[in-house]
Amino acid sequence: MSQRTRTTKTLAKRIDLQYFARPHPFRRWRLWLSVGVPLIALGWVVGQRAEGGQKAYSSGPLAHSHAVFTQQCGLCHVARTGAFFAHVSDQACLTCHDAPVHQPEQTFTPQCSSCHVEHQGAIRLAATSDASCMQCHANLRTRDGQPHYAASIGGFDRQHPEFSVLAPGRTDPGRIKLNHYVHLQPNLMGPNNTRVEMSCDDCHRATGSGETWPYASTELHSAALKLTSQDLNQRGSKAPMVPPAFAWHCAACHTLQFDNRFGNAQVPHDKPEVVHAFLIKQFGEYIAAHPAAVHEVEASNRELPERARIPRVARNASEWVEFRVEDAEHLLWLKTCKQCHTLNFTGGPLPEVAKSSITARWLPHAEFDHQAHRAMACTACHTRAPNSRDTADILVPSIQICQQCHREQGPMKESAEGRCFECHQYHDWSKAKRTKGRFSIPELRGTARLRMPKN
Ligand code: HEC
Ligand code: HEC
Ligand code: HEC
Ligand code: HEC
Ligand code: HEC
Ligand code: HEC
Ligand code: HEC
Ligand code: HEC
Ligand code: HEC
Ligand code: HEC
Repeated sequence: MSQRTRTTKTLAKRIDLQYFARPHPFRRWRLWLSVGVPLIALGWVVGQRAEGGQKAYSSGPLAHSHAVFTQQCGLCHVARTGAFFAHVSDQACLTCHDAPVHQPEQTFTPQCSSCHVEHQGAIRLAATSDASCMQCHANLRTRDGQPHYAASIGGFDRQHPEFSVLAPGRTDPGRIKLNHYVHLQPNLMGPNNTRVEMSCDDCHRATGSGETWPYASTELHSAALKLTSQDLNQRGSKAPMVPPAFAWHCAACHTLQFDNRFGNAQVPHDKPEVVHAFLIKQFGEYIAAHPAAVHEVEASNRELPERARIPRVARNASEWVEFRVEDAEHLLWLKTCKQCHTLNFTGGPLPEVAKSSITARWLPHAEFDHQAHRAMACTACHTRAPNSRDTADILVPSIQICQQCHREQGPMKESAEGRCFECHQYHDWSKAKRTKGRFSIPELRGTARLRMPKN
């Protein structure tokens, strides 16, 4: 018997390569099943919808933060006679958490569920689409008819206005003189005649980073602490930059000596009235301890060349104190304090120090967090800082810097989040009302019926 030789090639030859081109009863059925049945189903769905019924749909998984309520549909859906599921009202959402409106000027209020899309298993329900903002911001209308902000926005990297602080003509309103350029030079004169090279984080760091400041004053620490906790309360939860303070960032190099008799002793960094009282006390105590000093002739102060003064001889101790306080204040007001401050000599014998007016938030209409960007060099964003010689310069980065990373997500998600919610709040949370909890655990978990009628 000769053996049958069945190679794969001969086997393959037996397959009719044209089989799919000819009609066949099974294939006709397949066509019906794949095209016809969905068509029928769709027709049925449309029919159901026309009748107002909703049970035709099956719902997808709830958002992660709501998934725990999966067994109690009634928390959001109010059962209604005739239809099992009624439309979800905003009131149902507000029973559990308040969400204040956006702007008093808005012309209508969209429904919660138009932005927060449920039943898609969202990881973050608050990650709303740009379309939900653009329904108004693509062509902004206000009740009073005059929008106060850019009226047409269409995506962060496509059509978003430059930050308004950078508008031509805007300046930093701060009144503390600071020349960034000078302080960032190598070989800057540091404390006790040392040479140092300062970096941004010697003066600027986020609050809460427990490290010590290299150029802080040791004596003045407690006064400075007060300033920061007060400022923190203004700024909300994200760690802001500590505002520049004399005691923490300047004191080690810029000292406030007032008279050689007192060596390195300094006046308090405070209002002129406080400094004045301090000086009277110091000189008063000195003359009480050294009565002979009253008749000493005072050498003129070479630190103040503009005031070639005739040496004055005091007739008694109180006049001596008066002269010495005057001299010390002359040095302080016209040289020491003046280096950093604008002093106004208009009212009364003592000058008034202009308010420092250091801006705590440059972008009040957006959120920003340095922490999320800590991998970057400060100057990658604040490109103008190292060459700035004047406080009036604005050093906040331009939108073009942000747009290099924050963009509309491509298919590979190769950018940082670029949708509106990343940087803006929609709800005006300052107006949030307290929520009174009203559900028991079995009600929330769906093991007991809901008692509360929905309002
Ligand atoms: C956290 C609130 C919430 C819970 C809990 C919830 N849903 Fe929904 N559901 C919604 C929202 C919001 C919509 C969008 C409908 C709308 O615009 O009114 C929706 C829509 C639906 C729809 C489509 C109705 C339509 O109008 O298109 C069905 C069906 C549905 N849900 C079923 C369920 C079922 C079943 C459960 C319980 C397993 C459930 N839902 C629990 C919030 C909820
Ligand atoms: C039964 C109570 C309950 C109801 C009803 C409810 N929520 Fe929530 N919601 C919660 C809880 C609990 C959280 C998670 C804790 C938190 O973030 O406050 C939450 C979180 C959220 C969040 C933030 C979390 C995220 O994923 O971004 C949004 C947005 C939200 N809910 C919107 C809605 C909307 C819109 C509705 C109405 C369709 C609604 N909720 C109905 C209880 C509820
Ligand atoms: C219902 C219309 C409407 C929707 C939707 C809307 N806005 Fe607004 N928005 C306004 C109006 C009105 C103003 C105020 C305009 C004015 O006072 O001139 C405003 C102002 C703003 C401002 C500047 C003022 C401020 O207080 O910060 C920002 C930022 C903003 N909206 C962001 C958003 C974002 C992000 C979304 C989407 C989550 C959004 N808006 C959705 C109507 C809307
Ligand atoms: C000697 C301390 C010191 C150093 C070092 C320093 N700064 Fe400043 N910076 C200040 C003071 C004081 C102010 C407030 C006065 C002002 O507005 O110019 C300020 C203000 C700022 C502001 C907000 C003001 C505006 O106009 O935008 C930015 C941003 C800033 N600095 C960034 C930097 C960066 C970036 C570096 C490093 C390259 C740096 N600073 C180094 C002291 C310093
Ligand atoms: C090296 C710079 C520098 C010198 C010199 C200096 N200050 Fe200041 N001063 C600051 C800074 C920075 C602030 C803002 C934050 C703070 O309170 O430390 C400030 C704030 C003040 C304030 C509060 C201003 C306000 O906003 O109300 C007063 C008052 C003041 N200084 C008085 C003085 C007096 C008086 C002198 C001289 C004896 C003096 N300062 C010397 C840097 C300086
Ligand atoms: C590490 C030491 C050091 C620290 C810290 C320091 N400075 Fe200075 N500062 C100097 C030196 C040195 C000069 C003189 C530089 C020069 O003229 O070349 C100077 C100069 C200045 C001047 C005059 C600048 C000009 O335009 O000539 C001002 C104003 C000033 N500092 C403010 C401040 C303030 C405000 C702080 C704290 C926020 C501060 N400095 C912190 C060392 C320091
Ligand atoms: C990467 C962050 C970021 C994203 C994303 C973003 N913005 Fe902004 N937006 C800002 C900053 C920062 C400002 C300046 C805020 C200020 O001046 O106080 C701003 C300003 C605005 C303003 C006020 C404009 C004016 O005239 O001063 C509006 C309105 C606004 N954005 C809406 C939107 C909308 C709508 C989207 C989504 C399409 C969006 N933004 C996306 C950061 C962002
Ligand atoms: C991703 C860009 C970016 C980087 C990187 C960055 N900043 Fe900023 N910085 C900003 C923006 C935007 C603001 C305005 C925020 C606001 O006040 O609303 C700001 C504000 C500031 C201010 C003014 C005070 C404040 O908190 O608003 C200081 C000071 C400052 N930055 C210092 C620094 C220093 C120091 C570094 C490096 C450690 C740094 N920044 C890195 C973007 C950046
Ligand atoms: C080098 C890329 C890069 C640049 C430039 C950049 N960002 Fe970001 N930003 C990120 C990354 C990464 C995150 C965190 C991840 C995310 O949310 O996508 C982030 C997060 C944020 C957040 C959310 C922070 C939080 O904790 O919720 C805001 C707001 C933001 N950026 C605003 C800005 C602004 C405004 C600028 C321009 C001044 C800017 N970013 C520039 C990469 C960048
Ligand atoms: C125009 C779109 C829009 C509408 C309408 C809207 N939201 Fe929001 N909601 C947002 C955006 C964007 C955020 C994230 C930014 C913020 O916190 O404002 C948010 C945040 C929230 C959060 C907090 C999320 C968190 O991080 O804790 C809750 C809760 C919430 N919304 C509930 C509601 C409820 C309830 C309604 C209806 C009364 C509603 N929202 C209407 C866009 C919207």
